[in-house]
Order: sequence, then C-alpha cells, then structure tokens
Amino acid sequence: MELNNTVIVTGGAGFIGSNFVLEWLRREGGQVVTLDKLTYAGNLGNLASVDQDPRHLFVHGDICDDELVAGLFETHRPRAILHFAAESHVDRSIKNPGEFVRTNVVGTLNLLKNACAYWKSLDAEGQRQFRFLHVSTDEVYGSLGPDDPAFTELTPYAPNSPYAASKAGSDHLVRAYHHTFGLPTLTTNCSNNYGPFQFPEKLIPLVLLNALEGKALPVYGDGKNVRDWLHVQDHCSGIRCVLEKGAPGETYNIGGRSEMKNIDVVTAICDILDELRPDAKIGARRSLITYVTDRPGHDRRYAIDATRIEAELGWTPQMRFAEGIRKTIEWYLSNMSWVDGVRSGAYQEWLHQNYRGR
Ligand code: NAD
Ligand code: DAU
Repeated sequence: MELNNTVIVTGGAGFIGSNFVLEWLRREGGQVVTLDKLTYAGNLGNLASVDQDPRHLFVHGDICDDELVAGLFETHRPRAILHFAAESHVDRSIKNPGEFVRTNVVGTLNLLKNACAYWKSLDAEGQRQFRFLHVSTDEVYGSLGPDDPAFTELTPYAPNSPYAASKAGSDHLVRAYHHTFGLPTLTTNCSNNYGPFQFPEKLIPLVLLNALEGKALPVYGDGKNVRDWLHVQDHCSGIRCVLEKGAPGETYNIGGRSEMKNIDVVTAICDILDELRPDAKIGARRSLITYVTDRPGHDRRYAIDATRIEAELGWTPQMRFAEGIRKTIEWYLSNMSWVDGVRSGAYQEWLHQNYRGR
C-alpha cells in the first residue's frame, strides 16, 4: 500500500526545523505535520508565512507524549519523520542537563518506539518507502586538535558537554533501532548552522544584536575556538538529499568546509554592521569585543569531513560564509519585529543567568 505523501517534522518551530518546513513546502508536494512543544526556542512566528497553507498542520505537543505521537502516525500515515526537536544550547545544558536527557534521549526513544510500531504495521512496499531521519550534530565526536583531520562518519564518539552526550545517546538509540528491529533510519551529523530565525542565545545572532545596540560582545576564553559554519539552507538541502538518496541505517556528516575562529566570526559581524548601520555614538564595533570567562569544558575545534555525502549522494553546499553572513545580518535588520518577539522576559532572564559577573 502506498503511504501518504506526508512528512512529520518534530521541532519545526525552531531555527533549523522552521527553515526546513518553509523550504519543503516551497519545493515539495504533500502534507507537512509539524510537532513542536514551543519551548523558549520554538516560535510560531517562524512559520507565520505558511499559516494559511492547507498543506501545513501545526500540532502543539511534546515528543515524549506516547499517546500523541502514536496518534500522529496512525492518523497521518507519513512516508517519513524528520526529527529536529531537541534542547540545543550547550550553555543551557551545563546549567540544566536533566531537560536535555528528557527531550533528546527519552523523547527520541519515544519517537523511535512509535515509528517502529507504525513501520511494522505497514505492508512490504510501505516498509520499503518509510524513513526515520534523525538530525544530529558534530559535537558527538568531541574536540579536535589544531592539526587533527576533520570528523568522518568513522570518528569514535567522545561527547564532552551534557548536550553532546544527550545527542550521542539519541544517535545510539537510532542505530540500535535499525540494527535490532530493522527500522529504516538515517542520521545526519552537522556542523554549526547560521541564518534566519536563529534564537539570539547562539553566537552569531547574539553578537549581531548586541553589536547593533552598542552592547558588549562576549567572547568566551581566548576567542580562538574553531567552528565549521554552514548556512541553514545548505543544511536543509543536505537533509533533503539524505532523505531521498541515503542508505537506511547509515549516517552522513554535513558541513561547509568553512572553519573559522570565533573571534574572526565576531569581527566579520562588526565590520559588516559598521558598513550597513554606521552609528557615530557606537563607533567601530570591534571596540565592543569583551573577553569573558570561558565555557566549562569548551570544545576547542570542530571540523566536518563531508566527503561521504558529497561523493555518494552528490550534495554540495551552495553558500560561502562571506555571502551567508551578510545575508543573515540583512535578514535580522529587516526582521526586527521577529527579534522583539523572541526577546521576551525569559530571554532577558537567560542573559542575566549566563553573562552576569562572567
Ligand atoms: P532550536 O533550539 O532552535 O529548536 C528546537 C525546537 O525543538 C524548538 O522549536 C523547540 O520548541 C522544540 N522542542 C524542544 N523540546 C521539545 C519537545 N520535548 N517536544 C517537541 N518539541 C520540542 O534548535 P535548532 O538549532 O533548530 O536545532 C535543531 C536540531 O538540529 C537539533 O536536534 C540540534 O541538535 C541539531 N543541530 C543543530 C545545529 C545548530 O548549529 N543549531 C547544528 C547541528 C545539529
Ligand atoms: O556544532 C554544532 C552545534 O553548534 C549544534 O549541535 C548546537 O545545537 C549549536 O548550538 C552549536 O553549538 P556551539 O556551542 O558551537 O554554538 P554557540 O553558538 O553556542 O557557540 C559557538 C562558539 O562561540 C562556541 O565556541 C562558544 C562561543 N561563544 C558562544 C556564545 C553564546 C562565545 O564566545 N560567546 C557567546 O556568548
């Protein structure tokens, strides 16, 4: 029996999930069912442009809710589930690890359990078509030295933060559901994303908005930690590519081959803002850079070797960092009402907790 041309997207009101849903509806036919708990990081405003689209259904709920998740599979009979929902911020995982285990490990297990029961109920053709795609991170591989080769799919797991450990736990459960039950899973491990709709607790939007307003730009430690930046649109195209062409049970690294030191990211943002929004009272925004106490256990360097997805599936990133960061800054400057909406009381409370006295 043919499955419905429907996909379930968990965490579709968050940064990457909402970019994925919007692009999917622009490109593909069929229904999208977004399941999101709307934590501090989830925002229905990200999906406002598809509010009236009959192909999109928003379900407000928790991935840990067994009955709700079982009902979604039964009602919608999807051809795939794309699992983005997570607690995603490393600094928050240091302050409150329990929530990370609950959502990232227990929530993923609940999705796997229900997906597996649904998949077993399908006929042979339905079972052949169905996919469980798990969106994960490069942080599961731990930290690289300056001359180490980039992470491949064979790099041993060595997660260092509670966030990374919880994502590693979820990856292992996905692997086990394929190995033990045959569930057709796919896992993607991606590097740092940036782009529209990113919550301003993460480095790029936090620095961008502080710099715009002439506030201090907090750089952890010596600012020489390295991240491998990928525009969110390229991450989403990688996920679509893996969904259509990836081999069940396999994992694919996704990255931009765009390693940068944090301090270079911060100065790039300062210089572009000075050009787009010069402000005589603020002056050169580089002067706002403030080195603060390091993140405990701060991983020094991440870098992704994306050879597998490039060679086997034909994916390549399209957006270079210089272009992507300028577009991202322009997006934030043109969407200040979105920014005002997400910088609620809860956001102010987080800034207070994380940066006061640092
Ligand atoms: P995000 O924090 O912006 O969004 C997470 C979304 O999940 C929010 O909409 C939130 O409301 C929802 N959510 C949280 N707990 C939930 C629950 N229990 N039930 C239902 N919904 C819940 O995260 P993001 O940056 O968009 O990351 C999405 C995924 O991609 C995560 O799995 C993350 O680990 C992974 N990832 C992120 C990056 C990055 O740079 N941001 C890079 C690689 C991988
Ligand atoms: O590598 C993929 C991961 O990238 C994702 O799995 C995570 O969900 C995502 O949050 C991101 O993790 P990072 O910890 O790398 O991202 P963050 O934006 O928090 O920090 C980027 C770098 O900037 C990191 O080295 C810490 C540093 N930093 C961050 C903040 C918030 C600062 O120097 N100052 C800051 O205020």
